[in-house]
Amino acid sequence: MEERLESLYAEFSREIGAVSTGAEVATIKAEYLGKKGRLNEILKSLKDATPEERKTLGPLSNELKQKILSEIDEAAVRIEREEIDRRLASERQDISLLDSLRDRGLGSAGYHPLTAIGREVEDIFISMGFDILDGPHIESDYYNFEALNIPANHPARDMQDTFWFSDMHHLLRTHTSPIQVRGMEKHRPPFKFVGPGEVFRNEAIDASHEAAFRQIEGMMVGEGVSVAHLVHFLKTLLSEIFHKELEVRLRPGYFPFVEPGFELDYKCLLCGGKGCSVCKQVGWVEALGCGMVHPRVLRYGNIDPDLYSGFAFGMGWDRLVMMRYGIDNIRHLRSGDLRFVSQFKAY
Ligand code: PHE
Repeated sequence: MEERLESLYAEFSREIGAVSTGAEVATIKAEYLGKKGRLNEILKSLKDATPEERKTLGPLSNELKQKILSEIDEAAVRIEREEIDRRLASERQDISLLDSLRDRGLGSAGYHPLTAIGREVEDIFISMGFDILDGPHIESDYYNFEALNIPANHPARDMQDTFWFSDMHHLLRTHTSPIQVRGMEKHRPPFKFVGPGEVFRNEAIDASHEAAFRQIEGMMVGEGVSVAHLVHFLKTLLSEIFHKELEVRLRPGYFPFVEPGFELDYKCLLCGGKGCSVCKQVGWVEALGCGMVHPRVLRYGNIDPDLYSGFAFGMGWDRLVMMRYGIDNIRHLRSGDLRFVSQFKAY
């Protein structure tokens, strides 16, 4: 009988080592330990054994039963773990943007058009030797207005509907021009830099106006810097962006921080000059404000206006994006709608 128990265990070991599902483990458990199982089958013959034999066989078979039970438990645990691993591998979710977009049938991801054009514009300026500067969205009265020759109570403050903080000294910058002031604090002439970024105005929203939009500021200061430099850089920029020569016009424009000041328009690329909602039916699009840096602004930047001159410009960049891609409503740009964004492929 002892031999039968031993060979039973040997067989059990072989079988339990080969199982791969929970159902198989249950079958083996029934086969060996069930009421009509193989162990009980052997134990039945105990009644024919002598009392001496029973003394050793009883504990031996109990021990075997415990051994089998614990090995079955181990196998069950192992199989459960294997099953979890298998499920983890087969049900793995790729949460990267690209795949989730693809799964939803939205094609491959690209840069948001504002980002794409922003990088292009930066690259164009970098290739022309400009530095790229940054500035905070929350500005002080000093940087947004005062050092730009717009003192308190100056009517020009009303030109820009400002989001003020409750202390009335801080605001969401209404333009990127504060970067001019910050740039002059950091650089000694000659220098040229651009400063891109988001700006904020408390404006009524329509097809071409948003309360948050993007500008890029540019400034060049040195000996003998003139309007000719300004026009050269801006024409180069616009023709690079649109991959063709644009028709532009300069009009006199008023900004307290430049003298003389201009507004540069280009012919609307959406309607070809006939008039549409983006160009407000005029056929021309205001691209930017620009001019020669006001001597007072240079002095705020500790630069001697008798030795140096400079130009500055501030260009809205949402409309540039709209022209480039033929987008007829500025609200699409910040709608967060993936169907919109996914139309633009990475550059
Ligand atoms: N900051 C002006 C605006 O937002 C644009 C500008 C910048 C004009 C630099 C002249 C020089 O309208």
